[in-house]
Formats: sequence, structure tokens, C-alpha cells
Amino acid sequence: MTRKAVIIVVALILVVGVVIGDSSGDKSLSPVEAFCAPTLYKDKCVSTISPVAANASAGPKDFLRAALVATMEEEKIWIEKAVAMKNDSFVPADNKALDDCKQFLEMGVRDLQSALAMVDDNELQGVYDEVDEFRNWLSGNLAFQDMCQEQIDNPDLKTRLQDGLRNATQLTTNALVLFAELSTILRSLNIPLEVNPKLTR
Ligand SMILES: *[C@@H]1O[C@H](CO)[C@@H](O)[C@H](O)[C@H]1NC(C)=O
Ligand SMILES: *[C@@H]1O[C@H](CO)[C@@H](O)[C@H](O)[C@H]1NC(C)=O
Ligand SMILES: *[C@@H]1O[C@H](CO)[C@@H](O)[C@H](O)[C@H]1NC(C)=O
Repeated sequence: MTRKAVIIVVALILVVGVVIGDSSGDKSLSPVEAFCAPTLYKDKCVSTISPVAANASAGPKDFLRAALVATMEEEKIWIEKAVAMKNDSFVPADNKALDDCKQFLEMGVRDLQSALAMVDDNELQGVYDEVDEFRNWLSGNLAFQDMCQEQIDNPDLKTRLQDGLRNATQLTTNALVLFAELSTILRSLNIPLEVNPKLTR
């Protein structure tokens, strides 16, 4: 799937609210599998969250946190790598594009840090109440990853960067869906919450 297609699919999930609740009666799903059910890259979601779920006291807030931390760590790696790709044998515009790309990724990481702080400063109910804020931060991060790639004209360099950022994009997409579908996910885990008055659906 191309990046634009991913964004469109995520937008559809958000708008149409693709029905995922049907699996809630499936008792064979582990809590992590149930949690990850709506994500587009399910295996990646499960492998990100399983280590945290090994702690029996960990709950959905810890799972959300793990999804954000994994995304941030992956993106930070690519901030370093974008700079490391600079090369004296490139035309100056290519090296400048890599610097610009790095700055967009740094803006994305700042959004992820804000999201992480919001998780850490709140109980699950408080996180749920701010779900729109998380959606903004995460879709903003997808846009920053796009802007990073759009800086690069050199086709070879662009391919390397696109391939490299794919994991960060998939992790961001997963995190976006986890927050966007939080009410459905919590219902499928039988975790009661007060209705979020800010939620439009
Ligand atoms: C297990 O999860 C609980 C609840 O979030 C947390 O307080 C605790 O520190 C975790 N323990 C370990 C070893 O990570
Ligand atoms: C810079 O580019 C040259 C020519 O493509 C390549 O041989 C060299 O390994 C590159 N250096 C770095 C640090 O990537
Ligand atoms: C993306 O993640 C997979 C699975 O963790 C890993 O094998 C692969 O090397 C990663 N790709 C990049 C470009 O980091």
C-alpha cells in the first residue's frame, strides 16, 4: 500500500467507523490480540505490545503507551539515519533535503512526546476524553513523515528513505487507529468508561 493509500484507509476507518466489534465475542483472542484487532499492521501491533502485556498488572493505558514509545523510537532512529545519509558526493540540494527531512521528523517526534506526556499524566478515562487530541498528534506525525520524504528529489535517496521510514509509518498508523477506535477496543475488553462527551460518534 502506498503512503497516500494508508492515509486514505485510516481516514475511512475514522469516518465510517469500520465495524470491528464483531470479534468481541471471540473468547479465543488474547487481550493483546483483541486490543490490536482494528489495526492495519496487526502483527506489528501485537509484537510491540506483547512484551508489556507480559506484566499482569499492565492495562490498556500501558498498551497505548507502548504503541507510542515504539513509534517514537523508530522515528528517532530515522532522524539519525537521515543525517547519516548526507554525503559529500551528493549535490548540495540533496544534503539540504536530508537536513529538512530531519527537521520534519523532529517535529513529528515532538508531537509523539506530547502524546506520551498526555498518557503519563492521565488515567485511562482522561486519555479517552482527549482522544481527538491524540488523533491530531498522530495524523500530524504521518503528515510530517510525508513532508520529510517530499523534500527528496534524488530518486535513489528517496527510495532509501521511503523504505526506511515504512516501519515508522506503519507504527504511527497503528497508534492512530488504536486511539481512534479506543471506545470500541475498550468495549471489546469489557472495560467500562464514561461516555466521552467530545466524541462525535
Ligand atoms: C507493571 O504494570 C504496572 C501498571 O502499569 C506498573 O505500575 C508496573 O511498574 C509494571 N511492572 C513492571 C515490572 O514493568
Ligand atoms: C558517499 O557516496 C559515495 C559514492 O556513491 C559512496 O561510495 C560512499 O560510500 C558514500 N559515503 C557515505 C558516508 O555514505
Ligand atoms: C522494519 O521492521 C521489521 C520487523 O521488525 C524489520 O525486520 C526491518 O528490518 C525493519 N525495516 C527497517 C527499514 O528498519
